[in-house]
Parts: sequence; structure tokens; C-alpha cells
Amino acid sequence: MQKINVKIPAYSKGSYTITIGAGFLPSVLSNIKKLLPKKELFLITDSNVAKTKHFKNLLGKEHLPRYVITPAGEKSKNIGTVTKIIEEMERKSLGRDCAVIALGGGTVGDIAGFVAAIYKRGVPVIQIPTTTVAQADSAIGGKTGVDSSISKNAFGIFKNPAAVFIDVSTLKTLDEKQFNAGLVESIKHSLIADEKYFVYLQKNLKGILERKCKLLEYIAVKNCKIKAAVVEDDPYEKNKRRILNYGHTIGHAVESASNYKLLHGQAVAIGIIAANIIEQKLGLDGKERLETLKKLFGKLNISLKIPKTITKRRILDIISRDKKALRKWPRFVLLQKTGKVLCKNGQFAIQIEREIVEETIDILLKQKF
Ligand code: GLY
Repeated sequence: MQKINVKIPAYSKGSYTITIGAGFLPSVLSNIKKLLPKKELFLITDSNVAKTKHFKNLLGKEHLPRYVITPAGEKSKNIGTVTKIIEEMERKSLGRDCAVIALGGGTVGDIAGFVAAIYKRGVPVIQIPTTTVAQADSAIGGKTGVDSSISKNAFGIFKNPAAVFIDVSTLKTLDEKQFNAGLVESIKHSLIADEKYFVYLQKNLKGILERKCKLLEYIAVKNCKIKAAVVEDDPYEKNKRRILNYGHTIGHAVESASNYKLLHGQAVAIGIIAANIIEQKLGLDGKERLETLKKLFGKLNISLKIPKTITKRRILDIISRDKKALRKWPRFVLLQKTGKVLCKNGQFAIQIEREIVEETIDILLKQKF
């Protein structure tokens, strides 16, 4: 088992620990009780996770914390779900001496973190991610929030967890589509920070897809180290943290335009291809990487097709409201080379001419890459 310390503000101390291993879920609740003695625990999970053995494994023989089960899927990541959970917590007479536990994927973690941030002006949250996307990305770094009917994460706040527990054996029950799509966040980390890791992911893909625990532990540690280093530098995304949004400008746009029919990872894969097309148009290195990425996404069975209902105008409309936008025009994170993000005038997110962006969207829609 490995422990990574993230030195950013967290509840009641200056850092929090991410514990990574395989098969230790049954001991997590007693660890949480040691970490947060006297706190009344409230568990948030979703209808998919509640059916798995992880739910029972987490609870074990320990006293059952109070819990709520939300409907699975990004569509329940909205302010209505937050209201329902908060009112349930009030009905259960939970006070400011409670702590929230998030057991599940990115949606559960984002909702639970947001609930914890605003419930009676803030209670601690513990993240126990059970999907590839949440273990690689969303459970670490304190971003929480829910979507509005217009865009993703429109309601949001930074809420650092008190601790994160990553048990990679929980990935064994994840359906193949979700498992594979979540690996795109690992690919993203390798692209922005570590070329050797990019090669490792290609070489070990078979074992990773067979869900060998040793490999899953290795990539969980890698992802957390890469992400923690960025987040420690820039916890509130003033500049450098934007590199974690590689592939997310167009990615988020196609994800919300698809009404969340595209999984987050699949949308980010499309966004990574979009970023690569822009990189090539700007004369940056990328042609060879594009071929490698197409092969890699192919092996993950990730379709790079944008649904026919999504138009260029719709994508342009959404990206103009992207959180990195300046004067209603988005900024893009781009690679100088594999493992290194382009930094221009000290900035990691760069505005690109409208013509280049429009041409890139045309190429994506026509699948001419
Ligand atoms: N998922 C990107 C970030 O945490 O900044």
C-alpha cells in the first residue's frame, strides 16, 4: 500500500493523504473513524455502487453510517439532487459535527464534495473513488460541483477532501465502457507530464484492460503524483492547474451538447484529438502522436465520432462560455511535445484564432484526421 501526501489546504490540517492499494476497502471505515473521531458519518453513493459488494465491503461489521443513494449517471449531477440530499441530512438531524463520505465515481464525488462544502457552511468530506475516472482525476484536488441545464459544473466550489482512499480492486466490477473511458484521464496525465508514462500505458494496455491489480495500483500512484504536483503548485487554478484541462475545452462542449450520452472520457478523447489538430496547425510536434492516440483509443473501443445532432454552431456556443474563456473566447491547453505543455508568455492556456478553431471543429465533425 502506498501513501501520497498532498500539501494543500484541507480540513483541520495542512495536507491530506491519498491511500492507494488493492483490497483494503473493509478497513477504510475504521480508518475514517480514527481520522475524524466523534464525527457522525453520512455516506453518499449511487444506485450502481449500492448494488455492488463495495457498499457492503466498506460498511463491513462497522456501525452503519447513515446514507443516501442517488440515481447513477451524470444526469443526476444537478442542483435538485443536492437539495434532496441536504434535506435528507436535515431530516436525519445531522449537525455541523457530521462528515460526508463519497463512495462512487466522479458524479458521486462531485455531488458529495459540493454538499459537504455547503452543508451548514461546510463539513469534511472523504473521497472513496470506485471508477477509473474518479481514481485518476476527480476525487483528487478538491474540485466539486454540479451541472446547470446549460453547462457542466456551473455550480462549483473547491472543497479539499480530508482524505482519499483508492482501492483499485473496486475497478473489477466497473463495466467495460466506463472502465476504458476513464483511462483517458490517465492518458491525459501522461501527455501533459510524462512521456515515459505514455509509453508505459501503451506497452501495458493489455494487462491494464485485464485489470491486473499491480498495474492498476501503478497507474493510480502515477496519476495521483502527477495531479498532486500540479495542484500543490496552483490549487485554485490561476494558471498551471489549467494543464489538467488538456482536451477538456472541446471535450466538455461535446459532452454537454450530447446531453451526457457521451461518457466524460470519450468526450475528452475527442477533445485531445481536437487539441492535437490545433497543435499541428500551429506547427507544433504532433503528427506521430495523433496516429499513436488513434490506435490507443481504438484499442480502448472509444469512438471518436461526434453525434450527428451536434453542430459546429452548438460547439462554438458552448466553448465561448468555457471557464478558461477570456472575452467570450476559449483558451486551449496545448502540448509543445509529448509530456510537456506549451507555455506562452507564462500562460498555460492560450487563445487561438477563431479560424483555426472553426477549421478544427470541421475536421472533427467530418472525421478527417
Ligand atoms: N480535473 C481537472 C482538475 O482537477 O483541475
